[in-house]
Amino acid sequence: MKKVLVVSFSQSGQLTQIIERFLAPFKSVDIDRVNIEPKKPFPFPWDNKSFYDAMPETVLEEPIAINPPQFKYDNYDLIVFGYQPWFLSPSMPTTAILKNNHFCKLLNGTPVVTIIGARNMWLNAQESVKYFIKKAGGKLVGNIPLADKTTNLISVITIFHWMSTGKKERKWGVFPLPGVSEEDIQETSVFGEIVFNALTNDDYDNLQSNIVKLDKIRINTCIMFIESRAKILFRIWAKTIKKKGTTPAKRTRWLKMFERYLLFALYFVSPIVLTAYTLFFRPFLGGSIKKKKEYFRNVNLN
Ligand SMILES: Cc1cc2nc3c(=O)[nH]c(=O)nc-3n(C[C@H](O)[C@H](O)[C@H](O)COP(=O)(O)O)c2cc1C
Repeated sequence: MKKVLVVSFSQSGQLTQIIERFLAPFKSVDIDRVNIEPKKPFPFPWDNKSFYDAMPETVLEEPIAINPPQFKYDNYDLIVFGYQPWFLSPSMPTTAILKNNHFCKLLNGTPVVTIIGARNMWLNAQESVKYFIKKAGGKLVGNIPLADKTTNLISVITIFHWMSTGKKERKWGVFPLPGVSEEDIQETSVFGEIVFNALTNDDYDNLQSNIVKLDKIRINTCIMFIESRAKILFRIWAKTIKKKGTTPAKRTRWLKMFERYLLFALYFVSPIVLTAYTLFFRPFLGGSIKKKKEYFRNVNLN
């Protein structure tokens, strides 16, 4: 019987739900399900201060302490790795397990499929995850990113409502529902079927192209543009906050500045920059945009 290790972390349960649907077609498979457990749990719902306080260490990919993960076997036929991006980086529990020696040993020589439950910005986080998997000797054979389909500025509002209340509901009864839609979550079993077939046949060569063929991995040009610049700026902010925030009061002050910067960048700078980009640059960048999207839809690492 094939042995599949499934590792993930979820605060609201959204990613757990996605993974359950994904695993629905896996019949007669020995599944070892492992949840990543931070030693000090993150708040959920989040308060504003804790939310921004998670930024610097998340972006700098510093591992937090987690309870030692318990695995049933010493090797697996496939590892399914579910995670969510935080601040354009793998969430802190994700980074922690990707730096865990025991888990790295299991990754070595094993095919890996990543499943992402994001708002809409997962490209940078996936680059880090790809790097960690490769470094451990794992082979990324598939990636299934699921995201909120609402527009960027609306989904910031709806996700904040969800994260700060713990309720995946319409803000004021009028905004769209936050997060990955119920329909998309239910449909994850289609991806599960494709991965299950690859596992059964021990053949992952065409796995990602079969996933891509479903035409469900949508990469938005403007989001890709934002992500390519924002991570550099986040790194500068993270390093500055760590360097200057030497006392709790100073750190709080710097985090407050980052919060204001982020909202200003999102609601003021990005609409202007994106309009200029769309009008003056994008028409001439068709080829390179297409190439970049192709790269992000696939599983290779540049
Ligand atoms: C601190 C924090 C930062 C986040 N940053 C991002 C991000 O940069 N990009 C993104 O697409 N989603 C982001 N999200 C949304 C998460 O990726 C995820 O979709 C949401 O937290 C639900 O995941 P769950 O299954 O853990 O509840 C963030 C969420 C949190 C709590």
